[in-house]
Amino acid sequence: MYLCTRIDNVVLMTKSETYQQLLPQIQSLVADEPDMIARMANVAAVLHDAFGFWWTGFYRVEHDPANGEQEGTLVLGPFQGPIACTRIPYGRGVCGTAWQQAQTLVVPNVHQFKGHIACSSASNSEIVVPLIHEGKVIAVLDIDSTDFAAFDDTDRHYLEQIAATFDL
Ligand code: SME
Repeated sequence: MYLCTRIDNVVLMTKSETYQQLLPQIQSLVADEPDMIARMANVAAVLHDAFGFWWTGFYRVEHDPANGEQEGTLVLGPFQGPIACTRIPYGRGVCGTAWQQAQTLVVPNVHQFKGHIACSSASNSEIVVPLIHEGKVIAVLDIDSTDFAAFDDTDRHYLEQIAATFDL
């Protein structure tokens, strides 16, 4: 399981320390750029690079049942990692369920999650954090790892702070 990360191949840091170091950088990346896609692109790159996740990216809400649209859909946004499914229905998979519940889902073993959408067979655990603006989910941040149980309350804590930076 993931415990530490390398910075410049020299300094060993705990997961919390790495997130604490990244947070101001991410806050400034987001605050300096009004375009949502550009923000997502850089945040995905920063997280992916720092932690070496398998897949790090965003799905944006395209059709929203909260707006009376029948077929709720997430559409693939900026990401780092292998190619991924482009559309996820409301309430489907880990992403669609996190959207429906408007809450973070930490899945230690994706193979045991009913309805999990396997974009890659190499993924074994996952965390999905909703981005909320004016009370509605506007996107989700989805991160996959090839390790089982790679994500915990530390990831939830910091990734929710990172998701909150999008609510400007
Ligand atoms: N596993 C996700 C689909 C997206 S990929 O992991 C990039 C899900 O079940 O919603």
